[in-house]
Amino acid sequence: MTTRTNSRGILAEANSDDRGEIVEMLTRAYWMEVETVISYLANSINPDGVRAQEIIESLEADIEEELGHARKYGERIKDLYGVVPGTLEFSPQQSYLQPPEHQTDIVHVIKGVIEAETGAIDFYNEIIERTEGVDPVTNDMVIAILRDEEGHRRLFEGFLREYEAEGKA
Ligand SMILES: [Fe+2]
Ligand SMILES: [Fe+2]
Repeated sequence: MTTRTNSRGILAEANSDDRGEIVEMLTRAYWMEVETVISYLANSINPDGVRAQEIIESLEADIEEELGHARKYGERIKDLYGVVPGTLEFSPQQSYLQPPEHQTDIVHVIKGVIEAETGAIDFYNEIIERTEGVDPVTNDMVIAILRDEEGHRRLFEGFLREYEAEGKA
């Protein structure tokens, strides 16, 4: 007996083009999350100074969340008949999250995090728009992830405000 294929939804044969495009977007999002994990890991270890501790603790918590996002994107890629790529397909983009010249330069780290979160927010809004009415499950998943990224951005904006208020940013 052959299995019946879906006639509706993103798994339907007729929607294979949409599915392919969405898998491509999910793959890009997956790499963004993986790169963010790598960058936040380094930036949660490198900073020096009393005031760096708050940033370090915050990034340590974020690493777990971003890793969770990467896993969600990976699982959704698989659900849509894609394959989670291997490391040889990885091309890093986060020039703004490289270690600063001085490890007490916390403003550099804060601004880098804001840049990463802003990029994620922009791209995830794009995925939400693309999947609207086409793939409600991906749409719903990315909305939840977007909420986390907006929270991260807002938290680091708050950190930056404190430095700006002192004329140090
Ligand atoms: Fe994330
Ligand atoms: Fe984030």
